[in-house]
Amino acid sequence: MPAKDKALDDLFVDTLRDIYYAERKIVKALPKMQRAAQSEKLAAAFEHHREETETHIERLQKVFELVGKAPRGKTCEAIEGIIAEGEEIMEEFKGSAALDAGLISAAQAVEHYEIARYGTLHRWATELDMKDAAKLLSETLKEESATDEKLTKLAESTVNAEAL
Ligand SMILES: [Fe+2]
Repeated sequence: MPAKDKALDDLFVDTLRDIYYAERKIVKALPKMQRAAQSEKLAAAFEHHREETETHIERLQKVFELVGKAPRGKTCEAIEGIIAEGEEIMEEFKGSAALDAGLISAAQAVEHYEIARYGTLHRWATELDMKDAAKLLSETLKEESATDEKLTKLAESTVNAEAL
């Protein structure tokens, strides 16, 4: 299809495929981060978010259904890079008191990417008058934002104090 015939609904599906790919990468990365975490609270936060991420994947499958498309991911270089950086931190800071601070920073980079994507998808779903999709996307957006805030609190309390 020539680019000029592409419309916002095509962009919506493309972006849906991008975040679907990303979520499935994240659900695999979180158990590694959980095992690496030194603080029990941080490990528990990763475990909790892994469970939420499974729900995020299910919600995306519902959105695909609503737009009449089969759920399919599209390679997202951005999340590959963010996750690779997280793995680098896990290797380079293994055994260091700063490891948890590094894990939190990696996890927040993931959350911020997701918040950007879900924020956009939610806005587009609203513009395209897809109320059910918009509702599902906003539920996930809220959970990603709550996770981000929780990580900030963890960083401010125990973790950074131990690293210093
Ligand atoms: Fe998510």
